[in-house]
Amino acid sequence: MVTGAASGIGKAVVERLARDGVEVIAVDIAEDGLRKLDAPHSRTMVANVAEPDDRARIAAAADGADYLVNAAGIIRFKPIFEFTLQDWRDIFAVNAESTFFLCQAIGPKLRPGGAIVNLSSSSAKLASTIEVAIYAASKTTILSITRSFAYALASRPIRVNAICPGIVDTPMQDRVLDEVAHLRGTTREALNETRNRSVPLGRPSSAEECAGAIRFLLSEESSYMTGQAVNFTGGLVMW
Ligand SMILES: NC(=O)c1ccc[n+]([C@@H]2O[C@H](COP(=O)([O-])OP(=O)(O)OC[C@H]3O[C@@H](n4cnc5c(N)ncnc54)[C@H](O)[C@@H]3O)[C@@H](O)[C@H]2O)c1
Repeated sequence: MVTGAASGIGKAVVERLARDGVEVIAVDIAEDGLRKLDAPHSRTMVANVAEPDDRARIAAAADGADYLVNAAGIIRFKPIFEFTLQDWRDIFAVNAESTFFLCQAIGPKLRPGGAIVNLSSSSAKLASTIEVAIYAASKTTILSITRSFAYALASRPIRVNAICPGIVDTPMQDRVLDEVAHLRGTTREALNETRNRSVPLGRPSSAEECAGAIRFLLSEESSYMTGQAVNFTGGLVMW
């Protein structure tokens, strides 16, 4: 079961799992994007992870699954003093609430030996993200949610890990460049260069590279890892 499956990292995860012969249920609010997936043997489900009724449908479909990947996410950009209560509620509903309640509903129904990966972010570990302060708070919450469910599901055994990507080349990252450049009064190109220089490996990741790391966290290769916040940042974050 993969949420946020119509674009970016979620899409790359679905296509990678499908290539590995896994039958995937690809969930997203964006029907168009789901139609374009290149994932044989996968099923698609249009659902809003922020809606409790939709989450119940997702959970029902996930009965007996091996893996859950919570990749659905939204971001909003404003000077920190201009964020509203509605911004908080919207962002937390998609990023944090859905992660908590999908882990709660689906975790116990996964097959023993199964695994969950939650998409956090390097913004959960950095202070330089004030244009996305609520997003960063929601991604930090995901680390706590991950640890709680890792503990709660360990005896089954189901492993639960979070991945903290830095800069992954996706439609969301495209918006980050445009909107943060606008807020900082600089150009997209200049911001892109500064950001790439801050990454020791000197470049963004592709969505496919990130999907490879998520695949590792789902697989037996990471059988002794649970409750972790795994950096995937080209060295931007090292703790
Ligand atoms: N791209 C990056 O650099 C980066 C870095 C750190 C973390 N992340 C996280 O990785 C995840 C995937 O990001 P991405 O870059 O692929 O973004 P993206 O915008 O390309 O894809 C996100 C997907 O989530 C879906 N989605 C949004 N709200 C939804 C809802 N209410 N119900 C169902 N689906 C919904 C969107 O339709 C979209 O298909 C997100 O959680 C994001 O916060 C991304």
